[in-house]
Amino acid sequence: MEVSIRRLCDAAYGTPTEPYFAAIGPGEHLLGRLDGALVSHLMWVTRWLQPEGSAPLRTAYVEMVATAPAERRHGYATALLAALPPLLQDYDLAALCPATEQLYHRMGWCFWRGPLSTRKDHELVSTPEERVMILPLSRTPTLNLDLPLSVEWRPGEVW
Ligand SMILES: CC(C)(COP(=O)(O)OP(=O)(O)OC[C@H]1O[C@@H](n2cnc3c(N)ncnc32)[C@H](O)[C@@H]1OP(=O)(O)O)[C@@H](O)C(=O)NCCC(=O)NCCS
Repeated sequence: MEVSIRRLCDAAYGTPTEPYFAAIGPGEHLLGRLDGALVSHLMWVTRWLQPEGSAPLRTAYVEMVATAPAERRHGYATALLAALPPLLQDYDLAALCPATEQLYHRMGWCFWRGPLSTRKDHELVSTPEERVMILPLSRTPTLNLDLPLSVEWRPGEVW
């Protein structure tokens, strides 16, 4: 991963993000550049979200959406989100845990309404404090957003 990505995310989140990248693991990065300089970033990793009673969905789980503080409110994050769906044609769904809602709402993302949990050691562990947004893709089956939804456990931030 480019050092500039971590620098951008450190500045955007106001904290060292190396531990977050380590917990997330490797993924695909989408970069927004202005005159060659990195100004905006997002990445996705493959996770398996499972509505109760259905097979797990191969999910592009979006992380580390970040724009350089000096370049905000110019539409860069919006442009990256708009470019995303065509890149996710091998996925059943896109999802993320939002720190801000308006940006994603405008781009067609919506909240999962049902209860969330994580699958750990063959058990479901409730995660009531979490909220997740999803974006239907061309391969997404009809979903009931009121059903319970689980994701495989991971260290750090589960959702
Ligand atoms: C959240 C974040 C990624 C948004 O990045 P951004 O590049 O500023 O996003 P955009 O410019 O596309 O959109 C942001 C706002 O600017 C507005 N905007 C976009 N272009 C604009 C323009 N030319 N003039 C004025 N406003 C504009 C958008 O309407 C949007 O407003 P809204 O949020 O009220 O709907 C950025 O603020 C950030 O890095 N935050 C810290 C990290 C973080 O919290 N990430 C989100 C994790 S889920």
